[in-house]
Amino acid sequence: MAAVRPSLVFAGFMGAGKSTAARAAGAALGREALDTDELLLRALGEPLETFFDREGEAAFRAREEAVVLEALETAQGAPVALGGGALGSQRVCEALGPHTVVWLDVDSATAWERAGRAGGRPLARDREAFEALHAQRHAVYERAADAIVPAGAPGAVTDALPHLLALADAPAGARMVWARSASGDYPVFAGPALLETGWFPVAGRRFAVSDTTVWELHGRHLEPVAGSVLVDPGEPSKTLASAERVWRAMAQQGATRDDLVVALGGGVVGDLAGFCAATYQRGLRVVHVPTTLVAQVDSAYGGKTGVDIPEAKNYVGAYHQPSAVLVDPATLLTLPPEELAAGYAEVVKTALIAGGALWERVREGAGGAAQPDVILACARTKLAIVAQDERDAGRRQVLNLGHTVGHAIETAAGYGRYRHGEAVALGLLAALRLSGRDELRAEVAELLAAHGLPRRLEGVQPQDVLQALRRDKKRRGEGRVPFVLVEAPGDVREGAEVPDAEIEAAVRELLR
Ligand SMILES: NC(=O)c1ccc[n+]([C@@H]2O[C@H](COP(=O)([O-])OP(=O)(O)OC[C@H]3O[C@@H](n4cnc5c(N)ncnc54)[C@H](O)[C@@H]3O)[C@@H](O)[C@H]2O)c1
Repeated sequence: MAAVRPSLVFAGFMGAGKSTAARAAGAALGREALDTDELLLRALGEPLETFFDREGEAAFRAREEAVVLEALETAQGAPVALGGGALGSQRVCEALGPHTVVWLDVDSATAWERAGRAGGRPLARDREAFEALHAQRHAVYERAADAIVPAGAPGAVTDALPHLLALADAPAGARMVWARSASGDYPVFAGPALLETGWFPVAGRRFAVSDTTVWELHGRHLEPVAGSVLVDPGEPSKTLASAERVWRAMAQQGATRDDLVVALGGGVVGDLAGFCAATYQRGLRVVHVPTTLVAQVDSAYGGKTGVDIPEAKNYVGAYHQPSAVLVDPATLLTLPPEELAAGYAEVVKTALIAGGALWERVREGAGGAAQPDVILACARTKLAIVAQDERDAGRRQVLNLGHTVGHAIETAAGYGRYRHGEAVALGLLAALRLSGRDELRAEVAELLAAHGLPRRLEGVQPQDVLQALRRDKKRRGEGRVPFVLVEAPGDVREGAEVPDAEIEAAVRELLR
């Protein structure tokens, strides 16, 4: 039997736009796409719905399986659109091995609306059953997907196509998530030992920005680099003085607008290098290679870059989306435990925002602070929010959960005393107090403490924290700083006005 040539196989719930996506990919590749629902229609000689209603689901699935298996074998590089339930078959899942499975992720409300418009689909007649099926299939698609592209974005599949194809040559286990934002889309590649293999997703001369610790441990994997500049590890390096060093080193090393800045390190390096990339010659591409848990779950995505000034954190900066993000969880193996703990605070924050399956996984706590699937789920949560609101005009503010008090603690303590994640852990507890969610606060405090994070504020005066809060850049005019409050996991609201006395009480409680 001839070897199976890999195809892009589009999977997803009904209404995800699989046929349209496969056709778009086919047009770009000069190949005719296969649509397994259409092939099934031809094989049955009648509409899928009438066969399903007369013969029942088991008979339908058996016929569907046979058609899908044949399509996967004969496609030979042509894109394939898979029927929504095809992944329920073990044999189909096995046959997907050589192919790149692209999950078009559609939310259940959009899917319901589209299925309604399509009319008469047997599994789209009862809303409650539809929601349950969506949740069940979500997990199946998530497991099978090599790549995840948000459904409903016109042009996303064509834009993502080169990266989807590149995945076929990426090291085993690599996955891709297509990140969307108002100012540009980009791929996030994640996989075990991705960095170590030397695989790199973007062409161009690389100018690396890193800190001395990370460079020593992982820098060699970025070769060949055309230039590099290293800063001291830690928050005190996130300054304009460091930015000037980076700009000048890049100029001396001959970096031009066609080149790439590669940020190898944690959030400090990412924010600094991203800022330098945004401003050097008015903007260069940047690829983030995050090496801390904070950076892999949070700071590498969404395009916020910047530096601190003594008066306040992250006060000078720019939005600059990366050209790609390369996440290798294996880099976390060299991360000191206290840095892993700091990242865990961002994991808990993100899980509280996401709710649902992610929150359940995090509160169960199996597998430690840095599980690759949790890292990717956190990244996807952040990316989905940034896709709605890149510039913090509304929904993105939920990502500041725990950060308002957290940043004020960092500023009041002098950058460097508390790690960012440690301050966020305390900030989360303050936010949950302000939310009046005492039980949840107790549970979160337990989770944080079990991962080595502080429950108490030490060595910082509450009035200094309150003073720093007054300077928070989220404050508008003379008004109050808006807070992010938690109704329940998955129900987090931005923009709450909180009386000063309550804020003071929540900060003072951290001293107990
Ligand atoms: N831009 C955003 O959206 C965003 C979001 C969250 C946080 N942040 C920023 O991120 C920063 C915090 O990031 P961070 O916690 O990653 O700090 P960091 O970059 O200072 O890294 C923490 C320490 O870990 C070391 N390190 C990094 N990777 C390592 C590895 N693989 N092995 C061994 N040591 C390693 C570093 O040398 C450093 O000493 C803060 O400045 C915060 O404001 C930004």
